[in-house]
Amino acid sequence: MITSTSESLASELSAPALPEFPPNQWYVAALGWELQDKPLGRTLLNNPVVLFRKSDGMVAALEDRCCHRALPLSNGTLEASGIRCGYHGLLFDDAGKCVEIPGQDKIPSKARVAAYHVREQDQIVWIWFGSAAQPEPDCEPPHYAVHSSGQYLFDGSVYHYEAPYQLIHDNLMDLSHLGYVHLRTIGGNASIHMNARMSVESEGNVVRVVRHMRDSVPPPTYTAAYPFKGTVDRWQEIEFHVSHLRIWTGAVDAGSDSLDDPERGGFHMRGFHGVTPETATTSHYFWTIATNPASDPQAIKDKVVEQTILTFDEDKQVIEAQYRNLCRFGARPMIDIHVDVGANRARRIIEQLRQA
Ligand code: FES
Ligand SMILES: [Fe+2]
Repeated sequence: MITSTSESLASELSAPALPEFPPNQWYVAALGWELQDKPLGRTLLNNPVVLFRKSDGMVAALEDRCCHRALPLSNGTLEASGIRCGYHGLLFDDAGKCVEIPGQDKIPSKARVAAYHVREQDQIVWIWFGSAAQPEPDCEPPHYAVHSSGQYLFDGSVYHYEAPYQLIHDNLMDLSHLGYVHLRTIGGNASIHMNARMSVESEGNVVRVVRHMRDSVPPPTYTAAYPFKGTVDRWQEIEFHVSHLRIWTGAVDAGSDSLDDPERGGFHMRGFHGVTPETATTSHYFWTIATNPASDPQAIKDKVVEQTILTFDEDKQVIEAQYRNLCRFGARPMIDIHVDVGANRARRIIEQLRQA
């Protein structure tokens, strides 16, 4: 008996630990415009990283620790050939190699720091940490055409969350909360939200949730941004990917257009939501919102962005309060209701990727 207990304990101890986050993915590291003339220090999936833009405009990502005396390189300065540590001036290139030690000719071969795969695409900066089994990326980072098609005006920001990243997924996968949390902006009638016609589909590691709310009163953001005549037919199309979500919402005058027509008119809000774990209990939320103003493009875009900030501030308050309470009450069972189907599917995908 004693033997079997020790054996099982031994096998548990020797079992390889599950990765905390799904490995081998492109995760969002920054929005392109965050990287200008200064280095940016950010912890991503427990890795302290310094991100910077090189003189040729390309982005680079290094471990945020000088190999001399461990000052964060993000305290340093940018130069044409790399990043210079702000303590004793070692200069590192974008591959992490030390290329200059002030006052010393010989540069030891060990004078280097880790470099990460990083790419900028459609004004989103993606990073790949990989895994021991797959250190090199096996695909290109995702495209996000909404930023580059010229069809939309957009802006965005980065929020830091004192909450695990999957609580942000849950929130975005279930937009029924709009009728309770976002009454000042994109909410509307709670009962319409809770009774929306919903379909949930998955394909590989992607989950799609589509919700239609016909003949409903347009919420404040919609009426501020678009000249609706009366009630509207609203849609919410949510596409979950392991590292980000794409959410297309909007409305047409009730009965005026098909909600299944991808070219439909009306008012559109297209959201990009990069959800990157910082640690197991904190997260980075990179978001942009794009819209198609019917008139006065700059002012309407600014209005939609301002309303989106109010909306996402409300989400942050709810999610961080939820997490504080989860910590306060510990692991207690929770019940599921009909709106949880998409979020639960996303959680299963994350779990499968961690186990794989
Ligand atoms: S700590 Fe970076 S140069 Fe000394
Ligand atoms: Fe929300």
